[in-house]
Amino acid sequence: MLPQIPGKNYPNEVCLNGEWMQPENARISVFDRGFMLGDALYEVIPFYDGKVFALEEHLDRLKYSLSQIRFDFEVEKLVPYILQAVKRSFFAEEDAAVYLQLSRGTAPRTHFFPKSSEPNFLVYSFPVKLKDFEEKSWRLLLAEDIRWHRCDIKTTSYLANTMLNDESHRLGLDETLLFRDGKITEGSHSTAFFVKENVIYTHPEGPEILSGITRKIVIDLCTELALDIREEAYSLKDFKHLDEVFLTGTTTQVMTISEIFTEKEKIFSRPEAGPITRKLQKAFKEKTRKSQA
Ligand code: PDD
Repeated sequence: MLPQIPGKNYPNEVCLNGEWMQPENARISVFDRGFMLGDALYEVIPFYDGKVFALEEHLDRLKYSLSQIRFDFEVEKLVPYILQAVKRSFFAEEDAAVYLQLSRGTAPRTHFFPKSSEPNFLVYSFPVKLKDFEEKSWRLLLAEDIRWHRCDIKTTSYLANTMLNDESHRLGLDETLLFRDGKITEGSHSTAFFVKENVIYTHPEGPEILSGITRKIVIDLCTELALDIREEAYSLKDFKHLDEVFLTGTTTQVMTISEIFTEKEKIFSRPEAGPITRKLQKAFKEKTRKSQA
């Protein structure tokens, strides 16, 4: 019997290297570089009402990650499997996401990148409740960002992210907000936005953060709505003047933050979403669900 987690399910089938099969039949070598060295990339792509959203942007980010780790792979090859993943599952008309992972493949273990290894790719879909996200709110733990200096690469090597996320999980909180050198970088699996005196701040793109697809969509929405958005890192010392906080991400969408804690004290409290968060949540819903107004 495989371990179970309440609310999380194993998919009924997965696509390994272009072939659909039951997960128990999906096998790769123990010498796969993703398994041995974390030499692998991933993406999570959302489907609203069975329709893929921002696929192009996710593929572009995968291409960027590939180029950064000197990994040649034709990303377009994955598109049919991504689309099939949702079609083949019973939730074709509902909200879902596709998990896509690509490792450099199998080769004798070396610290340099082997010249010829056959990449391994895995694709599967899972149902996810994307509706009514604006009715929820999250409570955060603030912690020091202990990750490496290439957070812009979407690698599966998420040990530091999971160590940090586990800290908030153990305290019954929802996500960990990270800081480095006195400035907020992002969440352990989300992008952070701060509102102070009607100005919205988020960390600029660069090696300190993952360039979130939802981040870009929300920045564009701010521009469309004539909101003052600045790609500047938010300082810890400005926390006392904070009006609103929200996090973004593919399954997180635009999440209201109600409380932020350090190990010692509560440093932010706003039980209800603020007006700017609400405006962006509404615009985000309209963008992702074209038929909904
Ligand atoms: N996480 N920052 C980090 C560190 C992330 O892992 C993620 C996404 C984001 C948001 O990126 P996007 O808007 O493209 O989803 C920011 C994914 C969803 C995950 O690990 O499941």
